[in-house]
Amino acid sequence: MALRSIITAPDPRLKLVSEPLSEVGDEIRRLMDDMLETMYAAPGIGLAAVQIGVPKRVIVMDLAKEKEGEPHKPLFFVNPKLLWAADERVLCEEGCLSVPDLYEEVERPVRVRVSYLDYFGKAQEVEADGMLAVCLQHEMDHLEGTLFIDHLSRLKREMMLKKLIKARKAAEREEVE
Ligand code: NI
Repeated sequence: MALRSIITAPDPRLKLVSEPLSEVGDEIRRLMDDMLETMYAAPGIGLAAVQIGVPKRVIVMDLAKEKEGEPHKPLFFVNPKLLWAADERVLCEEGCLSVPDLYEEVERPVRVRVSYLDYFGKAQEVEADGMLAVCLQHEMDHLEGTLFIDHLSRLKREMMLKKLIKARKAAEREEVE
């Protein structure tokens, strides 16, 4: 396994629409292993392949509460497809490893049903609510080149992007000095 670097907004590579996979082989499992390690190290609870510069329809997630000695509960979604979404919507605060340290409430369907291929390429279906529903929709957005800040007003989004650019410039200056 290897750590990959996570791309942050407003990098145009985050706007790419990810390609579906024809099968889940060893190469994709290696990618998922790398993504998981990168996500745990960040730390984060979800990561799409496009966030490490690989525009393929692959998502890793782990919503288990971090506890000393508790085993990880990784989830893998390849080619996820939205089958159904509830009319009822809910506001939930979201963050993103590609939008570091910024959080904002986003409104989404409270419940979704999604089909996908798992780590071994087996077809699966899940009906999700709560955090899983929010996280799945957030990560599936990444596959379409959409960030959670794209759901906000233009004014809010531009303010957040300005903050990101400022923070990155400050970090770069620190590295030089
Ligand atoms: Ni994200």
